[in-house]
Amino acid sequence: MEKTFLMVKPDGVQRALIGEIVSRFEKKGFQLVGAKLMNISEDLAKEHYGEHKERPFFGELVDFITSGPVFAMVWEGKDVILTARNMMGKTNPAEAAPGSIRGDYAVQVSNNIIHGSDSAESAEREIGLFFKEEELVSYDKAV
Ligand code: CMP
Repeated sequence: MEKTFLMVKPDGVQRALIGEIVSRFEKKGFQLVGAKLMNISEDLAKEHYGEHKERPFFGELVDFITSGPVFAMVWEGKDVILTARNMMGKTNPAEAAPGSIRGDYAVQVSNNIIHGSDSAESAEREIGLFFKEEELVSYDKAV
């Protein structure tokens, strides 16, 4: 079954949106298979956002994501990568549809509440960066 990496960013944690965000994905029908509240080190932030290292906002991005705790999650389900991206809304909250997470709760592109993997390759890479295999659960009965 497909998995994706989602993360409530420091602004979402500070604004007490963890429960609301988890609830949306639960109600949609996806399964939470891993979760942790954590502080991101500068090294992890730089690795996670490596593809943006040449962008002018890279320093700001690293400063922001390390500014407070994040809630890192792995979700599982049919087409979860694309569906979660649609539920999050466009990266720029001004373009995110009302009803989406960013459309409902964010104003600034730098503080856009949630991150989600954009492809199967990113999902595998990001899950591996944030979680050990044994930190993910299975809903199948253990034998
Ligand atoms: P995210 O999906 O976490 O991946 C990269 C992040 O870069 C993106 O969300 C935005 O929060 C951030 N970002 C994109 N464009 C800008 C920008 N112009 N200024 C600051 N941050 C940006």
